[in-house]
Amino acid sequence: MTKGRIFSGMQPSGRFHLGNYLGALENWVKLQRDYECFFSIVDWHALTSSYEDTSKIPERIHDMALDWLSAGLDPEKSVIFVQSHVKEHAELHLLLSMMTPLSWLERVPTYKDKLQQLGEQGKDINTYGFLGYPELMTADIILYKADTVPVGEDQLPHLELSREIIRRFNYLYQPIFPEPAGMLSKSSVLPGIDGRKMSKSYGNEIPFAGSAEEITARVRLMVTDPQRVKRTDKGNPDVCNVYTFHKLFNQEQCSEISIACRAAEIGCVDCKKRLAAQMVEQLAPMHEKRLELSAKPAMVAEILHAGAERARKVAQDTMAEVRSAMHLG
Ligand code: AMP
Ligand code: TRP
Repeated sequence: MTKGRIFSGMQPSGRFHLGNYLGALENWVKLQRDYECFFSIVDWHALTSSYEDTSKIPERIHDMALDWLSAGLDPEKSVIFVQSHVKEHAELHLLLSMMTPLSWLERVPTYKDKLQQLGEQGKDINTYGFLGYPELMTADIILYKADTVPVGEDQLPHLELSREIIRRFNYLYQPIFPEPAGMLSKSSVLPGIDGRKMSKSYGNEIPFAGSAEEITARVRLMVTDPQRVKRTDKGNPDVCNVYTFHKLFNQEQCSEISIACRAAEIGCVDCKKRLAAQMVEQLAPMHEKRLELSAKPAMVAEILHAGAERARKVAQDTMAEVRSAMHLG
């Protein structure tokens, strides 16, 4: 039986946080066993919403590679590469852009939302590149003829559009491409310290590579059960954000903490200390690996270089088929 093929990508747009880890990477690491995987640091995608200052891109790519490798992505098992190192992504993006009706791009629900949201922050992304973001994402996926795409829920509308673009290509030229399916990971939305979805744009994240002090400080700021005002008030773990994290990082002590909280036998300060200690402990092996890797930047660069070589071979074969189907040189 041939393995299925996976493609997924992430934008190198800042510090990798626990939402990225639990919502995506942890799952990717497991998928490496059963699928042929392509994972890409999509630097061109990062330009779709932030194009003015590009000076930090190299550093962010390097950091993301460190995060991925320390979280368990294995270059022996998966193809790990930077999008802009494989120029075929740009060629296919261009060709897809010729045959995609504008109205399809304009009706993607995240398009207008994000345009407005970033507009309010004073960022003008009324650009051709931002509108065409799903084209680039489609090119990423189909260059490798991936059939499965692990993503967060927010990406499902993009994937739906990808399938439409693929159907159009297959109908107009030749049926070259499989229609990929999305795959959601189990903890689909991790809350941040304020209870909303953990996200860089809310400033509520806990950095994956944060030091023990940083993680403890972030946990200390977490909102708890809003009804529990005084130490002597009984708490309700079911509505407490800290408890959500205990369930993820501290399964063993969970039921004891829940009982103690309901009886007001443990206060929020101590409860948070216990959580932070567990988080730090569980992240420690990955942090250690990250530290080791960060001392070997040339090795990390070589991993990305070798990944791009492997990706390029597949991408070039696909482009040969595409050009032939479209009667292009
Ligand atoms: P982003 O940082 O928003 O570009 O997301 C990169 C990846 O991490 C995507 O697969 C997201 O679905 C996932 N992700 C980001 N934030 C969260 C979160 N709070 N909970 C779960 N997954 C997340
Ligand atoms: N758009 C995705 C995000 O912002 C990243 C991405 C780019 C991607 N190309 C992809 C995800 C292809 C899956 C498949 O999270």
